[in-house]
Amino acid sequence: MDAEILNLLRDPAGVPFYPVVFQGLYILTWALHALFVFLSLGTMGLSLYGGLRQKNDNNWKILTAHLLQTGKISVSLLIVLGVAPLLFTQVIYDPNWYTINTLSGLWVVIFIYCLLVGYSMYYWYYYANKKQSSTSSFIGLISFLLLVFCGLIMHVFSVQVIQPDKWMQWYAPNGVVDTSGTNFHIENIRYIFFIFLSIPVVGLFLQNYSDFLQSNKNFDEKFITYTRNLGTKIAIFGLILSLVLFVLWTFSIDKLTDILSIVIYISFIALILLAKNLKNSYIITLIFLVLLLLISGFREYIRYNIMNNIGYDIYSYPLNIEWASITMFVLTFVSLGGVGVTFIASMAWKVGKNNGYFDASKDKAVTTMANMLLWILSIWCIVYFAWGFYTLFKNSL
Ligand code: HEM
Repeated sequence: MDAEILNLLRDPAGVPFYPVVFQGLYILTWALHALFVFLSLGTMGLSLYGGLRQKNDNNWKILTAHLLQTGKISVSLLIVLGVAPLLFTQVIYDPNWYTINTLSGLWVVIFIYCLLVGYSMYYWYYYANKKQSSTSSFIGLISFLLLVFCGLIMHVFSVQVIQPDKWMQWYAPNGVVDTSGTNFHIENIRYIFFIFLSIPVVGLFLQNYSDFLQSNKNFDEKFITYTRNLGTKIAIFGLILSLVLFVLWTFSIDKLTDILSIVIYISFIALILLAKNLKNSYIITLIFLVLLLLISGFREYIRYNIMNNIGYDIYSYPLNIEWASITMFVLTFVSLGGVGVTFIASMAWKVGKNNGYFDASKDKAVTTMANMLLWILSIWCIVYFAWGFYTLFKNSL
């Protein structure tokens, strides 16, 4: 395909900041989205197994409830964190993204309903498990499959956007225009690789979980050791499986000996050794995050190369720097996002470390952060609306 038409489809207003920054933010935020995709599918999948074991095994009774709770929160985080890479894609690869949304329009709509029903059913599963209902596993399974299917739809969009040479053939097969919006083209090995990454993630989560509970007197030593060993086994198995799948994927796309692929193989091997031998699981998780960033970078590297080779170069996107919106973005990110996330994370951490009971009003750091957050949020709302109305009316008044 000739990129001339794609270049014409670019936003005539240009991009508000250097494209490489959007590209970096895309890589970062997709890795975060993926982290919670893997955590939610991994914890949910393991909770389905735990549901079968919990009647006769007290360890699994405690664990299943906690896995379910973790998965429930992770789905909401994966949705929120999915919006960010979506926006960055739309800024630098807008012709690709909108073309695919047209070619597979019906699947875009199905995705929304699938997510809505799948996540609602997760809550049903959660409460059914709490009541020890006999149908809970069945409800959980349907919810799990629906969420895995959401991932498949997302995967279809991701691989279709990087095949511009096939768009015409999909749009008008044999010269007849097809407006059904039902294009659905899968790259099996890539999808399996991503979904199976949920296995090492749930393993690493269990290692963190057991390290975290060590200081909590409500959990006995046996349970903590049990979850630690289980986590280590799952993490090692999952990492080996993911490495094999990654090699198969790079082989299928002719990137087996690419330098970035080799760095990722080495990172996988290092993680396998660390997951087995290192005592501090938080360090292993941090290294896993680096690996996830590399994988996210690899996805973008594939896309950038394909598009660049046909003449669509994001770095030559027309530039129209808008300092005002950049300032608003950075300030929101640092003040609201930074303080907000630190506040919620430290509260959650302290609740867990205080044997399940924590009086936030007596904690100086948490109270200060809560007050700061209220002020920042209030000021942010005033600035946001005042600025918005000023921009809206400045030309017409
Ligand atoms: C349970 C629901 C979801 C699952 C399991 C899921 C899973 C995935 C997976 C596996 C990929 C990578 C596909 C590939 O590269 O082959 C992906 C990509 C992506 N997802 Fe999600 N996702 C979900 C929901 C969402 C939501 C709600 C959003 C947005 C609000 C979102 C935004 C994205 C974006 C922007 C990409 C990258 C697309 C691209 O690079 O072209 N996802 N998702």
